[in-house]
Amino acid sequence: MSNLPDNDQEAKDVAKYKKLAQWGMFFAIALAVGLVALPMSKMRRNNRNRMVENGQVLYVQHCQKCHGEKAVGEDAAHLAGGLKPDGTFIAPALDSTAHAWHHSNRELFETVKNGSLDPTSSMKGFKDQLSDEDIAAVLIYLQSLWTNEVRERHKIMFGDTTRQSSEFNF
Ligand code: HEC
Repeated sequence: MSNLPDNDQEAKDVAKYKKLAQWGMFFAIALAVGLVALPMSKMRRNNRNRMVENGQVLYVQHCQKCHGEKAVGEDAAHLAGGLKPDGTFIAPALDSTAHAWHHSNRELFETVKNGSLDPTSSMKGFKDQLSDEDIAAVLIYLQSLWTNEVRERHKIMFGDTTRQSSEFNF
């Protein structure tokens, strides 16, 4: 038994080198992934910060007059909106205090792009004024105002918000 025929021994050697080569490949790939992933996560963070800044500028230009500074809403007594005495809608808070964060990214995006489902609402769509990327930036700015807890809960409810190329997961 101890004297294996030559070709058997050869087959064993080949198998051993194959294993070694496989491990070598595995470590090389792991290293390459690490080298690419690290700078990418940094880039992603920088990109996100830039979108928050752009989004804030756009928010101030297009949304603040109704939804208030830092999205605190039009009326502190009615954070989730409602009706004014004249029958028009109160613009709700879009920060963590009200209802806005219960919507998925997709729903928030649609509301800003196409406006309220109620045609009498003063919340009109911004599709003629803002590109999709602009709308994503505004929403990313709004989400930067959310508390960590709300951001986490939103993530759990609707999925990760930071994975996509536009940094916004629809
Ligand atoms: C002329 C006033 C006005 C402007 C400007 C405006 N909104 Fe609104 N918005 C409203 C009102 C009023 C509502 C609530 C009534 C409704 O949903 O029909 C609303 C609702 C929303 C909602 C849904 C919130 C919820 O809790 O369901 C989002 C999101 C939103 N606005 C985002 C924006 C963003 C982003 C901008 C700027 C790009 C903007 N709005 C500009 C008045 C406005």
